[in-house]
Amino acid sequence: MVENTLAAFSQCGQPEQVLEPHSAPVREPKAGEILVRMLAAPINPADINFIQGVYGLKPVFPDATAGMEGCGVVEETRSPAFLPGDQVILLHGIGTWAKYLTASADRFLKLKVPVDPAQAAMLKINPPTAYRLLTGYRELHRGDWLVQNAANSGVGRCVMQLARLLGFKTINLVRRADRWAEELRTLGADVVVGEDDPQAVQQVLAALGGTRPLLGLNAVGGESAIRLMEVLGDGGTLVTYGAMSKQSLKVPNRFLIFKGLELKGLWITAWLQQQSRGDIEQLYDRLAGWMAKGALHQPIDATYPLAQVTAAVTRAQEAYRNGKVMLRLDQ
Ligand SMILES: NC(=O)c1ccc[n+]([C@@H]2O[C@H](COP(=O)([O-])OP(=O)(O)OC[C@H]3O[C@@H](n4cnc5c(N)ncnc54)[C@H](OP(=O)(O)O)[C@@H]3O)[C@@H](O)[C@H]2O)c1
Repeated sequence: MVENTLAAFSQCGQPEQVLEPHSAPVREPKAGEILVRMLAAPINPADINFIQGVYGLKPVFPDATAGMEGCGVVEETRSPAFLPGDQVILLHGIGTWAKYLTASADRFLKLKVPVDPAQAAMLKINPPTAYRLLTGYRELHRGDWLVQNAANSGVGRCVMQLARLLGFKTINLVRRADRWAEELRTLGADVVVGEDDPQAVQQVLAALGGTRPLLGLNAVGGESAIRLMEVLGDGGTLVTYGAMSKQSLKVPNRFLIFKGLELKGLWITAWLQQQSRGDIEQLYDRLAGWMAKGALHQPIDATYPLAQVTAAVTRAQEAYRNGKVMLRLDQ
């Protein structure tokens, strides 16, 4: 019998303290299920929050497993929708930080074009989040501007790459402009400004001339979100989808009274649950196609085998990384 290894935890807490690699026999698929040999899974801020018990989904004990997204290859199938060797990503549920995953076939999505496994492992969450942020709140036309913070994050990079594909222009706030500006410009960023510069807002406004963006994308909160609201034009929309600074969103009254800003929030998990399977497949086929061509890419800071999951989650929580921390599950 083949042995599985998975990252499990029996109580919420700091991931490096509560997670441990756990061994169990691989479960054979029942009717309607597939057995997937996992290849790669990233560590996202949402995974850390889930293990800490502060995310929108809560772990089920005993022996909760971790990992909200990841990529693998079908090893055995008892579903007519999949063949052995199909490249798949987990679409619904949790448990990708494992060497094998046996689950209902409808929890997976088959990739119609081959995609590098580490990139495919990051397809489920950040690319559709960026796509929805760009298309779900304001009707942007070619040449229209938007402004975002945490622009060097996985989502931020997806936003600027998709914006370039869709013909929109981006103003990008980052914490280390000297480190990121050149690289982000090659991905399509039109303007990159350092958040820590006291003149950040003035720099953005100078780069825009008289134009003001009507869409702002906020993954940080606190003072950073205020900078976005400062830049937005009258009647603009600020969409909050993350809170990396752990600071609440503070809204100076003038932005509501005189600018008439609209405040929205996105949780992609909830949005995906409201879409039909057909619409979801169409969206992911499009995003996977861009990924396969290299037009949608998220960098990797470091790669760890599952046996070193503790070191991996520690690195994933450090500031100033150079991309995602990736678990290689086939090592
Ligand atoms: N709502 C949704 O459906 C949804 C979906 C996907 C992601 N998200 C959220 O989006 C955010 C980004 O996710 P990701 O996967 O793209 O992240 P990521 O690739 O891990 O990058 C994290 C980013 O946060 C920045 N950051 C960290 N601490 C910060 C602080 N104190 N102040 C300002 N910036 C800080 C980092 O900047 P440095 O490089 O300078 O450290 C980096 O740009 C997270 O909050 C995540 O939970 C939400």
